[in-house]
Amino acid sequence: MLIRSPKTWELPTAAVTPEALYRLTQRRDFLKTAGVGLAGAAFFRSAPLLSAATAGFPAKENPAFPAAKLKPTAEDYITSYNNFYEFGTGKDEPKVFANKGWKTDPWTIELAGLVNKPAKFDVNELVKKIGGIEERVYRFRCVEAWSMVIPWDGFPLAKLIALADPKPEAKFVKFTSFNDPNSAPGQRQANLDYPYVEGLRMDEAAHELAFMATGLYGKPLPNQNGAPIRLVTPWKYGFKNIKSVVKIEFTTTQPKNTWNIMQAGEYGFYANVNPKVDHPRWSQASERIIGGGLFSGSQATLMFNGYEKEVAPLYKGLDLVKNY
Ligand code: MTE
Repeated sequence: MLIRSPKTWELPTAAVTPEALYRLTQRRDFLKTAGVGLAGAAFFRSAPLLSAATAGFPAKENPAFPAAKLKPTAEDYITSYNNFYEFGTGKDEPKVFANKGWKTDPWTIELAGLVNKPAKFDVNELVKKIGGIEERVYRFRCVEAWSMVIPWDGFPLAKLIALADPKPEAKFVKFTSFNDPNSAPGQRQANLDYPYVEGLRMDEAAHELAFMATGLYGKPLPNQNGAPIRLVTPWKYGFKNIKSVVKIEFTTTQPKNTWNIMQAGEYGFYANVNPKVDHPRWSQASERIIGGGLFSGSQATLMFNGYEKEVAPLYKGLDLVKNY
């Protein structure tokens, strides 16, 4: 048997078990039995959410991605079960520690690198310049083999690319998250290499599904979900969906991405959802549905997370086993 020494930054194998979900459910059961009932539940839901990019709300649903087609996960789960290592490695930590004085308003985002129109925008100004926001309901699949359905508010990344007007040499897009150890306890502990970075190939970034979210469930993004602006690429594992972006840069070379830097054998650059390519420590053939119930909440993983028809042409001729 291979004995590995677990590193502090390693996504634990336990993450694929329902342990954290158990804790959430138990907390609810506790509230019920303690007679805290609805008032208590409302208190949990209305925990301080100090967000940020308010421009454009309320957004209209994009009829191509309707809530009627996919049943959205309850808002409470989406905003309480998070991966945001800047605010701790536990699923319930970001909701607590990202709402203890971390300021996401005002927020500046920079467009830089190989572009004709480098610029810095306040995120609300950017939304206005882009022409507003829309709602899209997307599947969300974490590499840890759990999934949700999230009603996002935001705008297509392609619109932001058009605004930056990239030069022909630009082949990739690099995303950088914030760096503020004073506000982010996980950065003080250096539980990952910070700032968190991600990247896409230019054609992936320009694809109609690639989205910049500024909200969910019709409201500005809660801090724990990556306020005030984050990337959403629904056909890729969740770690590509970088939160709280401060810089978008156009480059000639493939950008590094945080989880690949931390553990290249387990997390690649592409990170396309693929039921046939297992994670070295667990299967990707099925996924646990967050909020789906403890015993019946599992389903088969779909190729490209159900977006095969739309994105498969991007990867024609690419070996998806090697390029995981
Ligand atoms: N972005 C930053 N800056 N820091 C992170 O730790 N975690 C990633 C991704 N983006 C992460 C991040 C991972 S592993 C996942 S699964 C998703 O955010 C989780 O998004 P959610 O908490 O909104 O569900």
